Amino acid sequence: MGLILSLGVGWFVFPQVLYSEKQQPFNFSHPAHVENAGMSCEDCHFFRDDGSYAGYPTLEKCAECHAAPQTDNPDEAKFVAEYVEKGKEVPWLTYQYQPDNVFFSHIAHNAFDCTDCHPDVAKMDKTPTYYQNRLSGYSKQTMKMWQCERCHAENGVSNACFVCHK
Ligand code: HEC
Ligand code: HEC
Ligand code: HEC
Ligand code: HEC
Ligand code: HEC
Repeated sequence: MGLILSLGVGWFVFPQVLYSEKQQPFNFSHPAHVENAGMSCEDCHFFRDDGSYAGYPTLEKCAECHAAPQTDNPDEAKFVAEYVEKGKEVPWLTYQYQPDNVFFSHIAHNAFDCTDCHPDVAKMDKTPTYYQNRLSGYSKQTMKMWQCERCHAENGVSNACFVCHK
């Protein structure tokens, strides 16, 4: 009985206690913007001239269209009232967020699809729940070290520790 109980704790209870669930500040639908508003990925996610990755679009970019609500969507209303009108950047959560001691650059990985590494948010109407490890503070959805190393090995890229750990 004791064994079964502790196995149960290990498999079902511990993972639930270990991760806290967080939501994005408000829902953001990629299909609403890519399919309905006709935007392309590069309108919001692009490389700067120096090769660095812009990451998320700035509030200024969003405000080009959302200076005032255009629909009666409650997420848009929340976005306009709490961020656009207050001039506050949105604190997006990154599902693929890495520990600070890991170095990653998008430009070196430009030959690959976003979904080789990221959840396919571009096809989701609802932003997924973010699971944060209570002990390490890192995202559960992030790519594990062996997954980075597997692709590096397949492509003949060095897996010396200092390549990724600076
Ligand atoms: C209107 C601006 C906008 C456009 C256009 C856009 N995105 Fe995004 N993207 C965002 C925002 C805001 C987030 C953060 C919220 C989220 O994760 O959905 C994000 C997050 C992401 C992420 C990171 C997920 C993670 O790991 O946290 C990926 C990958 C992504 N977008 C891919 C795409 C692709 C592919 C396209 C084109 C099909 C695209 N985006 C078009 C605004 C945009
Ligand atoms: C080119 C104009 C344009 C830009 C730039 C733009 N949006 Fe939108 N957005 C729209 C339109 C049009 C709709 C309504 C689409 C629909 O009804 O399907 C919309 C809908 C929304 C909604 C409600 C639907 C949903 O859940 O996503 C939110 C929230 C939103 N936008 C946030 C943002 C944020 C945040 C940014 C910047 C990252 C942004 N928008 C950039 C045009 C834009
Ligand atoms: C080889 C894997 C890989 C590919 C391919 C990839 N990403 Fe990422 N992306 C990451 C990692 C890892 C992070 C987290 C970086 C960190 O936390 O320092 C990230 C972070 C991001 C972020 C959060 C902001 C930032 O710069 O940290 C956005 C937005 C994003 N990626 C969008 C995209 C889009 C859009 C594509 C496709 C055009 C893409 N990524 C392709 C691995 C990848
Ligand atoms: C889908 C395959 C793939 C995945 C997954 C991948 N990489 Fe890479 N990575 C590559 C390739 C290919 C190169 C070599 C690119 C070049 O030399 O132009 C590279 C190069 C690098 C470099 C060297 C960049 C430079 O400036 O010299 C770093 C650092 C790196 N990757 C980190 C990571 C980390 C961290 C992860 C996991 C979060 C990861 N990679 C996941 C394919 C991948
Ligand atoms: C291709 C990139 C890559 C290489 C090469 C690599 N690592 Fe990592 N490492 C990562 C990533 C990504 C993480 C975070 C995700 C995880 O914990 O799996 C990580 C996490 C770790 C952690 C846990 C750190 C923490 O903050 O939780 C240790 C320890 C570590 N690596 C040691 C090493 C050593 C030792 C080597 C060389 C033998 C090495 N790594 C080579 C990408 C790499």
